[in-house]
Amino acid sequence: MKHLLKLLDLTPGEIKELLDLADKLKADNKAGIPHPILQGKTLGMIFEKSSTRTRVSFETGMYQLGGHALFLSSKDLQIGRGEPVEDTARVLSRYLDGIMIRTFEQEEVETLARYGSIPIINGLTDFCHPCQVLADLQTVREHKGRLEGLNMCYIGDGNNMANSLIVGFLKMGCHVSIACPEAYQPDQKVLEFTKEYPGMFFMTDKPMEAAKDADVIFTDVWASMGQEGEKEIREKAFAGYQVNAELMAQAHPGCMVQHCLPAHRGEEITADVFEAHADEIFDEAENRLHAQKAVMVAVMKGE
Ligand code: CP
Ligand code: NVA
Repeated sequence: MKHLLKLLDLTPGEIKELLDLADKLKADNKAGIPHPILQGKTLGMIFEKSSTRTRVSFETGMYQLGGHALFLSSKDLQIGRGEPVEDTARVLSRYLDGIMIRTFEQEEVETLARYGSIPIINGLTDFCHPCQVLADLQTVREHKGRLEGLNMCYIGDGNNMANSLIVGFLKMGCHVSIACPEAYQPDQKVLEFTKEYPGMFFMTDKPMEAAKDADVIFTDVWASMGQEGEKEIREKAFAGYQVNAELMAQAHPGCMVQHCLPAHRGEEITADVFEAHADEIFDEAENRLHAQKAVMVAVMKGE
């Protein structure tokens, strides 16, 4: 694996290898067994949007692997003043051993990879959030003991999370059902991809239908970063798209709830459902650390 730009680029075998490595790194981390695999290496972390989990888990993960991480806010970089990403890629490739980038356009991440000569990791774009969904897959497998054959349900905006969840869970053998308003469906490329999985993907605008017999229910915010100006329109459009007790009653007993966070209680999820599933949700947040360590090892270890 040279980069992690989007889950569409990975084979199911590559995803499984990352999850297995993430489990091993997690277990060894708990046992106090160090793995200084990236000693002497530096990861640059470019942020054009806010972050709590991604920033802290990448920086800590890099430290635990024996390397160093640099926080690079686009507010301070020349990229924020219009220096082309093509030039930034070629300059940073001369200093660093890898770049994690969180930005708006997926195309910017792909360009960085095209022009740079070091591994690029996507830390969220408007199109996808692959690191989050690797942690999600790890968490669900940890709790359920398997992925294949599970019913994964997503309620809400057909956004970056929806796009990556659909691709990741289909590739790992799950049935995927999503409920979103007609005007907020997932990306067309992702909907095309689902055609490779006949009978495994179901999309509706009725949350209760999507949640039927679910083993795990995901949701995400109604307005993502960069969409703050659409808050009011979106509150109306997503009014019925809430993970609440009534929706949970449609699911299998023992159904998990996952949320990439930050969560907005009273909007996409009620406080009672959130708190009832808090252990699973914070395991999911923790697994960002372990899953991303696996990603960094896979792309940055070298020969
Ligand atoms: N889930 C997630 O990516 O969180 P941050 O925005 O805090 O990094
Ligand atoms: N869809 C959200 C995910 C945050 C981790 C956003 O893009 O803001």
